[in-house]
Amino acid sequence: MGRDEKMARTGDFALFVASRFIEPVERAFSEAFVTRFAESRDPIAELREAAGDFAGIAFSLDVPMRRPVIESLPASVRVLATYSVGTDHIDLEAARERGLAVFNTPGVLADSVAENAIFLMLGAARRATEAIELLRQRAWHGWHPGQLVGRQMSGSTLGILGMGDIGRRIAARARSFGMQIHYCNRRPLPPELAQGAEYHPSIETLVAEVDFLVLACPATDATRGIVNADLLARARPELVLVNIARGDLVVDRALIDALQSGRIQAAGLDVFAGEPAVHPDYFDLKNVFMLPHVGSATVEARLGMGRILIDAIQHWRRGEPVTNRVC
Ligand code: DGY
Repeated sequence: MGRDEKMARTGDFALFVASRFIEPVERAFSEAFVTRFAESRDPIAELREAAGDFAGIAFSLDVPMRRPVIESLPASVRVLATYSVGTDHIDLEAARERGLAVFNTPGVLADSVAENAIFLMLGAARRATEAIELLRQRAWHGWHPGQLVGRQMSGSTLGILGMGDIGRRIAARARSFGMQIHYCNRRPLPPELAQGAEYHPSIETLVAEVDFLVLACPATDATRGIVNADLLARARPELVLVNIARGDLVVDRALIDALQSGRIQAAGLDVFAGEPAVHPDYFDLKNVFMLPHVGSATVEARLGMGRILIDAIQHWRRGEPVTNRVC
């Protein structure tokens, strides 16, 4: 049965899949909807040219939905399903004006991202970049007690900027390492969620108190560039900074200067401003442990992200409330 024929017969929801997903997720989309997968490097142009009344688009960070894109979408499009928890690649105002429903993927990736935060904390504190280089360069000539001495998480203090679902899961894991938790959030959490973590109304007081600082907040007008030279000047020299959220929370030049000068000890970075570009100076810094935005890159998270979007579209079609509806 051809696609148009199937649509005409079943009146099914037609989904344009603009990004590439893992095979089981693509299969799940195909089983749930009449699906077309983008084949070109310009999926939005392909969508505009494609015959067919696509009601929804599944996409991710690699297909930014800025205002001009949203305004140029075919009139049939009513749903934007982003395969991400972050929505900073979408002009939500433009989506609202067009009356589009926007769904994202909170919750299902939180464990994966929290585990990655711990990985970055350990990697940066235990000098993983230097250790891996030493072995891979075949330059390790044997154990000695002065070699690659790092810092342990146990007994240290952890500051978390953004104590949402992901931030709280990082805190839970860090407690099992024996860390004391401090956090900064727009509002203090109720005691059952704070679990004894100490609230700081500002990041300035938080950074001055902690050995590790993890950025786990969304990128907004209020948070972009929040890690800058002024903030880093208040940090302890032992600070290990970890960013699992968005690259533009950090002013790269300021962080690079702080790492080069020893103003802070190390950084663990999973995200970068202007990805996939990475500021070239990071590559020369041994005290940076870097990953290419893999926080949610686990099978468990990826499957959950597909499932939650399919459920959202199906609930929406039946007129039922959708908890992961952004607008
Ligand atoms: C997100 O979901 O926003 C991550 O950054 C990518 O999965």
